[in-house]
Amino acid sequence: MAKRFLSDLTWGDVTPEHVFMNRRAFMAGATALAAGGIAGQGFASQYSTEEDLNSWEEITQYNNFYEFGTGKSDPAEYAGALTTSPWSVEIDGMVDKPGAYDFKTIMDAMTIEERIYRFRCVEAWSMVIPWNGFELADLLNMAGVQDGAKYVGFETLLRPEEMWGQKRNFIPWPYREGLRLDEAMHPLTIMATGIYGKDIPNQNGAPLRLVVPWKYGFKSIKSVVKITVTDTQPEASWNMINPREYGFYSNVNPEVDHPRWSQASERRVGGGLLAKRIPTPMFNGYEEQVASLYEGMDLRENF
Ligand code: MTE
Repeated sequence: MAKRFLSDLTWGDVTPEHVFMNRRAFMAGATALAAGGIAGQGFASQYSTEEDLNSWEEITQYNNFYEFGTGKSDPAEYAGALTTSPWSVEIDGMVDKPGAYDFKTIMDAMTIEERIYRFRCVEAWSMVIPWNGFELADLLNMAGVQDGAKYVGFETLLRPEEMWGQKRNFIPWPYREGLRLDEAMHPLTIMATGIYGKDIPNQNGAPLRLVVPWKYGFKSIKSVVKITVTDTQPEASWNMINPREYGFYSNVNPEVDHPRWSQASERRVGGGLLAKRIPTPMFNGYEEQVASLYEGMDLRENF
């Protein structure tokens, strides 16, 4: 895969994983390298947080991927059954160039960046994850979004032979999600294809999954095979199942509680049993970048 990274040097190359678990240690390494004459390669994004990262093990062994069971360790155990190559993404609806886009063709056309994002699940746990991926806007622009489009819908693959959870019907499969077009085009919104500079593991949504860091994690749909640009609000799985508990927007908001628990604070995975809960920031800490998208909207009503 020729074009995986923005620069040829990522910090996966720079230092072994256990060293860059600590972001500050990584930054010190980056400074040292820059002094050595490779300044300006820009492998850290302006959108990345400098908080300490969760480990590869935490990120890849504590998952929600109901196609492979509802337990947190089920996806790591069962998602290996999913065939992710060949893979293509059908882009249809209000686009100039609808069709099946081969994953490799997409990867060759996209610039892969590293984005270190906070990830906040609606269940009130969180992680800090170093994704590799590209901006969804670049993919949508490749297909050519037409005038009048207002939303983007997403679907996960439907393949019960490989995804045993799909044989149980508590979610109307395939898993689906949706964003408003301006949310989808926002530079923070990415399609992730890697973690820690490695291909994204199946349990995290191989070969490509949405990541919308200011929304609850369930919006970040995995293993995407279909993207529909439309003028009507798309169906979203959790919203279909329980619209009272899971709104279409599902922006992280410490002031709007889930009907069954508080959203004011969260547990950072890996913090240990005695770790204090940390306060959840508005829009998961991305308020400066995204608050303008919701100006004038009642965020309690549009939760
Ligand atoms: N996408 C699909 N297709 N199926 C799922 O069950 N779970 C969602 C989201 N995307 C889910 C999904 C939920 S509830 C969360 S919190 C995140 O994926 C978890 O992502 P992670 O396992 O990479 O941390």
